[in-house]
Amino acid sequence: MDTFQTALITGGNGNLGRLVAQQLSAKGIEVFCFDLPETEHKNESFFKHIFLGDIRDQDLLNRILKDKRPQAIFHLASLLSGSSEIDLELAWQINATASIDLMRTAKDFEVGLFFFASTIATYGSNTINPLPEEFQQWPENMYGVTKVAVERFGTYLKQTHDFDFRCLRFPMVLSPFAPISAKTAYPSHACRAAVQGDQFKFPVSKDTGMSCMFLDDVIRSIIEISLVPRACLQSNAYNLHGFHFTAQQLGDKLKQIYPDFDYSFKVDPDVEDLIIGWPDELLSSSAKRDWKWRPEFDFEMSITAMLGTLT
Ligand SMILES: NC(=O)c1ccc[n+]([C@@H]2O[C@H](COP(=O)([O-])OP(=O)(O)OC[C@H]3O[C@@H](n4cnc5c(N)ncnc54)[C@H](O)[C@@H]3O)[C@@H](O)[C@H]2O)c1
Repeated sequence: MDTFQTALITGGNGNLGRLVAQQLSAKGIEVFCFDLPETEHKNESFFKHIFLGDIRDQDLLNRILKDKRPQAIFHLASLLSGSSEIDLELAWQINATASIDLMRTAKDFEVGLFFFASTIATYGSNTINPLPEEFQQWPENMYGVTKVAVERFGTYLKQTHDFDFRCLRFPMVLSPFAPISAKTAYPSHACRAAVQGDQFKFPVSKDTGMSCMFLDDVIRSIIEISLVPRACLQSNAYNLHGFHFTAQQLGDKLKQIYPDFDYSFKVDPDVEDLIIGWPDELLSSSAKRDWKWRPEFDFEMSITAMLGTLT
């Protein structure tokens, strides 16, 4: 099946989930949200219905799939990198086991498309620059380990059971909605500090940077890969890249716009060690080949858009 009229978004109340829902709904697709009860839900009109529960509750998901029969699943529920490292067992349960169980249930209920959001963190620190897609994936944090597990299981189901598994690996996402707790999202936090007139300490050295994408391009990529005919997709997972900048370049750019912006650099080894091993560029030739992927936002445009949203 190459088109779908109904979709379930797990983690639908998150940073990416709400925007994906908004765009799918604007295309006339009926969208169901699944997310934790304790998250703040505003009962957005773009959701046909919001299901509350834990992604580990497979009985509940089974009932939802049986009852609603979504033709596509966008699986975005996840612990992010920081929380995964704090509780390894919980990260494995939520990110790996529950994702694998959900794919098996989706296969049993013949859900058409299954989209999975993977990450640059599936690579280790021994990468080369620019990074080819087929480079070996030996992640060095729990978040990356769980994402590789899902990539492998999804690909296995695709090869053996004709499962329509679609996967994008994102670099760092520049987003006005990045949670304060996400330490590696310091570029987004720096923009917020500049707008609010706060001091900011970059937790990395001034020359440190990595591959990055602006939120709008991330959302567009998810929508585009979900709409492309399945026969076009020759790769099991696609790397995406937008642009690269260093902490110094971002600080300078923000100071140019906000001359009073007061920033400095104080290395946090946890953040620096993570970022420094990641490449400046991920080659995205397969995405360009298979579905004509092109990022629209470069560094300048992303900062302008970020500041526009934050102001
Ligand atoms: N934002 C990024 O920089 C980035 C980069 C690469 C990949 N991703 C992936 O994209 C997806 C979405 O990311 P995001 O930025 O929207 O994150 P987010 O934290 O804003 O959203 C994740 C959602 O999952 C929900 N969730 C967490 N645990 C759950 C559980 N046990 N049961 C049900 N729901 C649960 C959360 O409540 C949240 O709404 C994730 O899979 C993430 O790993 C994000």
